[in-house]
Amino acid sequence: MRIETFRYTERLGAVLLRDVQKIIELDSGMEDQDTDEARGVLKISEPIIHDMQKQMAIVIPTKNEKLRLFENCISGVPHECLKIIVSNSDKSPINRFELEKETLQQFCEFSKRRAIIVHQKDPVISRALQEAGYDDLLDEQGIVRDGKAEGMIIGILLTKFFNKNYLGFIDADNYFPGTVLEYARAYAAGLHIAKYEQCMVRILWRYKPKIHEQGLYFKKWGRVSEITNRCLNSLISFVSGFETDVIKTGNAGEHAMALSLAESIPYASGYAIEPQELLSLFEEYGDIPHLGNHKNGFKGIEILQIETRNPHLHENKGQEHINNMLLSSLGSIYHSDVCPEETKNLILEELQRQGLLNLGDEPPRPKLIKAPKEIDFEKFKEIVGENIDRFIIK
Ligand code: GDD
Ligand code: MG
Repeated sequence: MRIETFRYTERLGAVLLRDVQKIIELDSGMEDQDTDEARGVLKISEPIIHDMQKQMAIVIPTKNEKLRLFENCISGVPHECLKIIVSNSDKSPINRFELEKETLQQFCEFSKRRAIIVHQKDPVISRALQEAGYDDLLDEQGIVRDGKAEGMIIGILLTKFFNKNYLGFIDADNYFPGTVLEYARAYAAGLHIAKYEQCMVRILWRYKPKIHEQGLYFKKWGRVSEITNRCLNSLISFVSGFETDVIKTGNAGEHAMALSLAESIPYASGYAIEPQELLSLFEEYGDIPHLGNHKNGFKGIEILQIETRNPHLHENKGQEHINNMLLSSLGSIYHSDVCPEETKNLILEELQRQGLLNLGDEPPRPKLIKAPKEIDFEKFKEIVGENIDRFIIK
């Protein structure tokens, strides 16, 4: 793969935010380096990509997606990555989870690969979390709550269980398997070129095509993403005193991390998870004067933003879904300890303008989930380990 080099970095304490890097070439061959590599270009050879992918789990959260899309998604994950599917699909009246398992089983048989699939509400997972002292994911009945974040965090714990060093998230509702392949390649390349061990790669889709009367329109920005990015940039601008537009991936569902970083971030429930990851890092390591937070000393935490070549086409889930996502994204920013007054006002104005918030009201406060490193992992491992066969598809 060839990727543009870092041109610009915004720093907030120990958090390094790299500006967007475009993918120049999807496959740049086997050789490590060309002697005459063009200036400003990084080459990541195939052996390096494969080596990174061997150390990587791809976590796919899914809930009642069309089986055809689910199958698209798993077929695009590179062979070397461990596939971990965390499903919250219905078991009745149709047992969609069993159908997903069956689809995966067939795929594994033909591709000679094993994969992991768990239901988010599996009693073994809930009991393991409960007994390991990690009940932030559980409801009053002691069962894992609904929510994409909840599924993703189970994926982080399973990545650790299977001794992988990196993990990347990929949504299941994807129309093009080739984009899944590209995300996994961009994860491997980005995590390899990162200068610091604690690193994250967030994907910016090249386009998100829409159907208009005149035909296809290749739209660049999603409605929620555009507003979330504006509010996160406002936050960084007012905290640092220098206006910036560095954040382009505030809502990036497709993102990857070193496990060491994934374990140490406090998350937020549901769809607030992606902006909350950035906020949690600013809160903890952003060197914000009134929080006195510079715990990481000189070690950097690095966030790369990589723009794909492929456009992204996924399911259209309707206006109510978009509204909820916007409310929870902006709610996480609004209630963060690092959020300045100017950004709070911007959020209120935006939500009122969209008719999602009444005058005088505040957006919802997200449910926070403590960092996965807080779990008694040995206990979790023991309980999951005793039952692991029910989750492995060979
Ligand atoms: N395990 C699990 N549990 N998965 C879930 C749940 C749940 O409760 N709810 C949704 N998912 C899965 C979906 O099946 C899909 O694979 C993925 O999570 C993303 O959910 P979508 O409902 O498709 O969200 P979206 O496409 O509107 O938004 C996505 O992109 C945004 C950026 O544009 C998500 O990834 C957002 O988190 C992201 O901000
Ligand atoms: Mg989607």
